[in-house]
Amino acid sequence: MSIKFFLDEKDIPRQWYNLAADLPTPLQPPLGPNGKPVTPDMLAPVFPMNLIEQEVCQDRWVDIPEEILDILYRWRPSPLYRAKALEEALGTPARIYYKNEGVSPPGSHKPNTAVPQAWYNKKFGIKRLTTETGAGQWGSALSFACALLGLECKVFMVRISFDQKPFRRLMMETWGGNCIPSPSPETNAGRAILEKMPDTPGSLGIAISEAIEAAVTDPTGQTRYSLGSVLNHVMLHQTIIGLEAKKQLKKAGENLPDVVIGCAGGGSNFAGLAFPFVADKIAGANITIIPVEPQSCPTLTRAPFSYDHGDTAKMTPLLPMYSLGHAFVPPPIHAGGLRYHGMAPLVSQAVNEGLLTPLALGQIECYEAAMLWARTEGFISAPETSHAIAATIREAKKAKEEGKEKVILMNWSGHGLMDLTGYHAFLEGKLHDYPLPDAELAKSMSVMNGLPKPSTAKTGKW
Ligand SMILES: Cc1ncc(COP(=O)(O)O)c(C=O)c1O
Repeated sequence: MSIKFFLDEKDIPRQWYNLAADLPTPLQPPLGPNGKPVTPDMLAPVFPMNLIEQEVCQDRWVDIPEEILDILYRWRPSPLYRAKALEEALGTPARIYYKNEGVSPPGSHKPNTAVPQAWYNKKFGIKRLTTETGAGQWGSALSFACALLGLECKVFMVRISFDQKPFRRLMMETWGGNCIPSPSPETNAGRAILEKMPDTPGSLGIAISEAIEAAVTDPTGQTRYSLGSVLNHVMLHQTIIGLEAKKQLKKAGENLPDVVIGCAGGGSNFAGLAFPFVADKIAGANITIIPVEPQSCPTLTRAPFSYDHGDTAKMTPLLPMYSLGHAFVPPPIHAGGLRYHGMAPLVSQAVNEGLLTPLALGQIECYEAAMLWARTEGFISAPETSHAIAATIREAKKAKEEGKEKVILMNWSGHGLMDLTGYHAFLEGKLHDYPLPDAELAKSMSVMNGLPKPSTAKTGKW
């Protein structure tokens, strides 16, 4: 029996899939400070126009330029694995498949969008990119992409991850990136936070403010900002994962999966695997599609669908998304990439419509799942990925209880070889869960009082 399903390079998807074209209730526009939809020219100081066009694109399919594919071939198509050893350990009748996105040079799904973003920026004449990074995966991915395309790269890394993951910084520097801890004294946004909270662990919201400020204040006009998740064009680039998985499941003799699972920080690896299957669900297929988030940062499971800023200093437009409030500083869990207050508007709209079934898990259950995975499948998972594994184990146990031969498809979004401090803390029994107290949640959400509200209308079909 095969446990790995490969695609030839010639069978790689040549178009990305855009869920915006098929959502039953339409995606709502980002709003400017005056409450009116932002226009492409308002975004021009931040992003190159070719990516802004992709951000607002309504076409179902978008061609992937050959020059981008030429770089993606280094690790794509990524293998689809059958998690046979885990199935046996659980004694489940479920068949569990996972996409291994840890095979990219930086070790996660993030280069699937870092490469296109660097390529489109270069084509537009940009010389330098700024960005933020949580776990360090995105900063490494963009540094890698910039190295291959000859761009400079500056990364603001959330302070707690900068301290927890020194080797990620060294990876960025190996690829020529410049990585500094955030909040930093280099920007107005960073200085303001440091004055109020000198010991803050930082947050993705703060680091985004710094990276945008650094881009728009470059007097040469040759710097732009790049975001590793949340935005529509990022979701679009990641759909190559799910499109490959569809072809590979066929090779494995399967039809559609019964359950699709991905961890969700800003939503990109989840969307990348899931959106091509959300299209099937919209067309009538019966699929349970689960984004998994940390209990300590419960955006989809406990926060409202609201308009909110993507960053702490309110530099971004208002995005229609589930949000814990732009000033939220999450507890210092090890899954740094899941410590984000908001969620991709495309994922949010699909949740509002009832197409997705979000789940929040504590980090102890996730580390236990990652340990079982390491001792069965063998790979050491990123702490973010462990959330998807824990949900997969829950679903596999449910299939056992129900005696059902379900097909479960999961995104193994990255390896954890740079994240061993978290494993160390777990092995020493020093980790805790941080369920968010109601009072703290209410306080953090209060920053959204008075902001416009998106429509929560839905078709009621799901
Ligand atoms: C390995 C890994 N998985 C998942 C995530 C979460 O991000 P997203 O929800 O955009 O996929 C991150 C973010 O840093 C990551 O590094």
